[in-house]
Amino acid sequence: MKALVYHGPKKVSVDNVADPKIEKHTDVLLKLTTTNICGSDLHMYEGRTNVEKGKILGHENLGEVVEVGDAVDTVKVGDKVVLPFNIGCGFCANCERGLSGYCLTCADSSVMPGMAGAAYGFAGMGPYSGGQAQFVRVPYADYNCLQLPPDADEKETDYVMLSDIFPTGWHATRLANLEPGQSIVIYGSGPVGLMAAMSARIQGAAQIFVVDDIEERLALADKIGATPIHTKKGNIGDQIREATGGWGADCGAECVGYQCTNGRGKEIPNLTMNALVDAVKATGQIGVIGVFIPQDPKSEDELAKKGQIAFDFGKFWFKGQKMGTGQCNVKAYNRRLRDLIHQDKANPSLIISHELSLEEAPDAYMHFDNRDKGWTKVVLHPNAA
Ligand SMILES: NC(=O)c1ccc[n+]([C@@H]2O[C@H](COP(=O)([O-])OP(=O)(O)OC[C@H]3O[C@@H](n4cnc5c(N)ncnc54)[C@H](O)[C@@H]3O)[C@@H](O)[C@H]2O)c1
Ligand SMILES: [Zn+2]
Ligand SMILES: [Zn+2]
Repeated sequence: MKALVYHGPKKVSVDNVADPKIEKHTDVLLKLTTTNICGSDLHMYEGRTNVEKGKILGHENLGEVVEVGDAVDTVKVGDKVVLPFNIGCGFCANCERGLSGYCLTCADSSVMPGMAGAAYGFAGMGPYSGGQAQFVRVPYADYNCLQLPPDADEKETDYVMLSDIFPTGWHATRLANLEPGQSIVIYGSGPVGLMAAMSARIQGAAQIFVVDDIEERLALADKIGATPIHTKKGNIGDQIREATGGWGADCGAECVGYQCTNGRGKEIPNLTMNALVDAVKATGQIGVIGVFIPQDPKSEDELAKKGQIAFDFGKFWFKGQKMGTGQCNVKAYNRRLRDLIHQDKANPSLIISHELSLEEAPDAYMHFDNRDKGWTKVVLHPNAA
């Protein structure tokens, strides 16, 4: 089959590789009809992770089941399903509690002592191949396949966002403990920040502020019903306080991660975290779904090399704030978010800028990584004729 393979920093190509096989009785094989490129893929693409050469990337996967292991009960050949980017077992202590992003059974503990969680085509998340390919192996298929309704084909590019960015944006608002009628400040208007804004709107936020320096992404935030704030237009904390009676936003979401920049391309790894501590009110909660990693040897920042940031902990403590972090537990939300799409209450496909073939993926990686004008979210159709 054809698959998008990582060969080193900024080197990916579409190669002929061996087809995946059913390895365990609980597996199925999926023929991908849609798979996305994600901001998380870019950390790997840029060589800013320890992902191994030869890895097939791709963790935002939707397709048709073509083969079923003999212990799989509910999933049948021909079913159209979307996969959470996390791979869970469904029966470990964490999956049982809804923490499917931290599965103990599927984790690769050689990565870090105490490491939990697994994903397709992802650095440090186990040996699983990604879905930017014609086929992918799905472990524990009864647990990991979310069945799609009869409008699956018509709304395919909405449903594919259930694999990651829609639940992840939603998770950011839950980690922030957003309540109806409250205000939220979201750092980052990439796909994930935009999904956090859409989630906040659906949950009845009174004010949604989205901060970034890319005009066209801010324009999408505006379209979703948020107030866009350009990083270059004055002090963000002051603007948020002015708009919220002087106190700051009720809660905040970090949707940028460790490669956040100062707007002139220089990475300042503590910028968004400290900006959120400033812009969120005393006692407010901050949801951090932007990725931070245990080591970043290629960073120019001495602390960041060791996975650390200079965090305004004194201000955070003094304001009595709280914080939630980590990978999204997609399974905790994807069924209900699917039903919001089915009932026309959510349309996450609105952020898509490009629908391409798998062959076009290397070029798409380059443009998306450069944050080139017009490249907001790329979806690929690996088996399109
Ligand atoms: N926790 C999870 O489960 C999970 C899942 C998916 C993605 N992520 C992570 O979420 C983050 C965002 O993902 P994405 O796909 O939207 O990525 P992206 O790179 O497309 O978007 C990031 C946005 O942040 C903006 N930005 C950079 N510096 C900024 C600053 N100082 N202030 C405000 N905005 C700034 C960029 O201009 C860009 O628009 C990434 O770190 C990604 O790895 C986490
Ligand atoms: Zn993703
Ligand atoms: Zn598990």
